[in-house]
Amino acid sequence: MTATATKNVSYKELGFVNTRDMFDKAMKGGYAVPAYNFNNMEQLQAIITACVQSRSPVILQVSKGARDYANATLLRWMGRGAVEMMKELGQPVPVALHLDHGDTFELCKSCIDYGFSSVMIDASSKPFDENVALTRQVVEYAHPREVTVEGELGVLAGIEDHVSAEKSHYTNPADVEAFVKKTGVDSLAISIGTSHGAYKFKLKPGESVPPLRFDILEEVERRIPGFPIVLHGASSVLQDYIAMINKFGGKMEGAAGIPEEQLRQAAKSAVCKINIDSDGRLVMTAVVRKVFAEKPGEFDPRKYLGPAREALIKMYAEKNQTVLGSAGRV
Ligand code: G3H
Ligand code: 13P
Ligand code: ZN
Repeated sequence: MTATATKNVSYKELGFVNTRDMFDKAMKGGYAVPAYNFNNMEQLQAIITACVQSRSPVILQVSKGARDYANATLLRWMGRGAVEMMKELGQPVPVALHLDHGDTFELCKSCIDYGFSSVMIDASSKPFDENVALTRQVVEYAHPREVTVEGELGVLAGIEDHVSAEKSHYTNPADVEAFVKKTGVDSLAISIGTSHGAYKFKLKPGESVPPLRFDILEEVERRIPGFPIVLHGASSVLQDYIAMINKFGGKMEGAAGIPEEQLRQAAKSAVCKINIDSDGRLVMTAVVRKVFAEKPGEFDPRKYLGPAREALIKMYAEKNQTVLGSAGRV
């Protein structure tokens, strides 16, 4: 690595913003800022293009796995490249570069030093006091550098089975005031029935997706009024794309996500950030499968990743417009 690659850099030099102002506006405006994960160039191009076109602020989300996959230095400069590209297009929108599900202080520190404007410390699986201590440690490093921090209370289930809902650890509203006060976090992820991945519910034929626990959300809002709430695991698992995957050689029977109306309802509340990764993965997979099935001789990655990127732009722009409500807010 060169000296430039290892040099600490503030996110401000890279053109990012932290989430404070974004969340203030989202809270007042009754919408949520999209937090879209990316691992590669086409996803990044699609997210930025869709958010510029729909005039939406955006949180570019990088997981530990994404950082390992794409290289931490490359990702940092890709993010900066996206901001520069947006400026050249003449219509910049606010962009935060955010660490998704940081699990150690060292990882959060490394991302802050690499120019992230926001980090999540996810110590939600630890006992309350340990969660508080680790989250506080990250806040103490982040805040002097004007980096915002997301913490989490409650554990999202892997694959939820609503018949045995006690397996998922919903956020206990009684904990939120103390957590926010003791840690100094800027936003709080809570567990109200969403989960990660493409199989959020195991539904029997004829059953529909159970509603999110809006009662828990309301109680959290009552206890910490005006505090930004984050919803993870918020992909809708778009059924048109599941059908396309299954039609063109894939096997994803029973994949199900959070209905869009429920997300729209959440976005109107104190939920200021909605995390979406799986829907992007599904769109990309479906389109690539279709191209391969219809043109088996195709071997130029631009010919299958290009159409996938176009479909991603459309999907993200539609989410901003109809689900997040973030379109037209810049
Ligand atoms: O919440 C998890 C995100 O979807 C990131 O997933 O760790 O496979 O990159 P990943
Ligand atoms: P999905 O798997 O529902 O897209 O959730 C993504 C997420 O929460 C990233 O942190
Ligand atoms: Zn998540």
